[in-house]
Amino acid sequence: MPSHTPLVDGIDLTDPAEFANGIPHAAFATLREQDGLSWVDGTDEQAGFWNVTRHADVVAVSRDTETYSSAVGHIQMYDIDEDALDARASMIDMDPPIHTRLRRLVSAAFTPRHVQSYQDAIRVRVNEALDNLEAEGGGEWMDLVAKPIPIGVICDILGVPESDHDHLIELSDHLVAGTSSEPLPADAYGNTTELRLLPFNSPAAHGVNEYARDLAEYRRDSPGDDLVTKLLEAEVDGEKLTESEFSNFFRLMIFAGNETTRSSIGHLALNLVDFPQEFDRVRADPGLISTATEEVIRYSSAILYFRRTATRDCVLNGTAIAKGEKVVMWYAAANFDPEVFNEPLRFDAGRPTPPPNVAFGGGGAHFCLGASLARLEIAILIEELLRREIQLEIVADPIYVDSNFVNGLESVQVRVR
Ligand code: HEM
Repeated sequence: MPSHTPLVDGIDLTDPAEFANGIPHAAFATLREQDGLSWVDGTDEQAGFWNVTRHADVVAVSRDTETYSSAVGHIQMYDIDEDALDARASMIDMDPPIHTRLRRLVSAAFTPRHVQSYQDAIRVRVNEALDNLEAEGGGEWMDLVAKPIPIGVICDILGVPESDHDHLIELSDHLVAGTSSEPLPADAYGNTTELRLLPFNSPAAHGVNEYARDLAEYRRDSPGDDLVTKLLEAEVDGEKLTESEFSNFFRLMIFAGNETTRSSIGHLALNLVDFPQEFDRVRADPGLISTATEEVIRYSSAILYFRRTATRDCVLNGTAIAKGEKVVMWYAAANFDPEVFNEPLRFDAGRPTPPPNVAFGGGGAHFCLGASLARLEIAILIEELLRREIQLEIVADPIYVDSNFVNGLESVQVRVR
């Protein structure tokens, strides 16, 4: 029987503070072991939701966009008004066939083959970051390594000038701060839009939109060999991206291409220190780079969950779900499902793939557009760390981002030995 309690195993999954020490593995194990799905009761303002915690169920929900919609309701667990949904929508909040059109406009730049062409640029970014880390003898891993690499790479691809990278890092941080217990003031970045109409309820979304508009204007006059220029010129079935579609996609790139990979790189520092013998294995056998990369991605599960909304009455793993109910896919639970991953809490640099982890989603229409890019960034970083024989020590307790949506790290203080 499904449980109907506001707390699950004593944990309130709606509270970012419950994730202050990372993934609540014990609570997720309890949920995975229950028959069917578990239910989290709603409040006066917010309806409750179903928890999907097993790997097979996350895959089933991800691949059935007709039953489990990204466009109805919201893709985070809290509801937003209908007009806010329209104002915020980027491709991640759409269902096929509308989603398909937008995805076709942008997907060519992210195929595994195309992404290989970014390899040299990524290696330059990685080595710049590691030069700084070594020169300082350590320090804040997030600032020295985890932040500059993904933002540098995504900005290179988009054609954002180097001088604006710090501004975009800050905007991206503040976007996620909208999901935390201490959001920014509503008028930050000159915002005058009601917060409920902005992604993550964050005024930083206004800042990113403004930046995207200025950059588009600049690239219309001075086209370059970059993704922004390509997006402005791209046509599918004779149609171009509208201005708001463009800025929504730009914002999605800045968040999705940046924050997620940064989190995984943050966790990589912890993995290097916690499981040194696993990285010794990779040093001895570089053929393990790709499985080690996948293990860093699984272990960090940088996005904790995405939500869908049922478009019809349906049954999942024996639990009846009514039309309109929220279904929350906890990737961070499914990635530790012992039915799929042997000894899931063990970091295994040679863990076989398949079965794939679901950190990039369980497959289907919305599977992470940037998966190949993120994998390449992390793989090159591991290669270069091992080549340089960098040994880290963690010198203070890591501080997590205050969020139940991303498994981010605010601070990882390291010393280079
Ligand atoms: C470790 C790094 C990353 C993780 C864990 C991650 C995770 C995810 C997840 C869970 C989804 C949703 C999948 C679904 O709903 O089925 C997603 C979608 C997406 N990701 Fe990533 N991502 C990462 C890196 C990136 C990068 C580097 C980019 C951009 C260059 C990117 C761009 C996107 C986009 C555009 C979508 C929406 C795709 C769609 O709706 O069709 N991601 N990602």
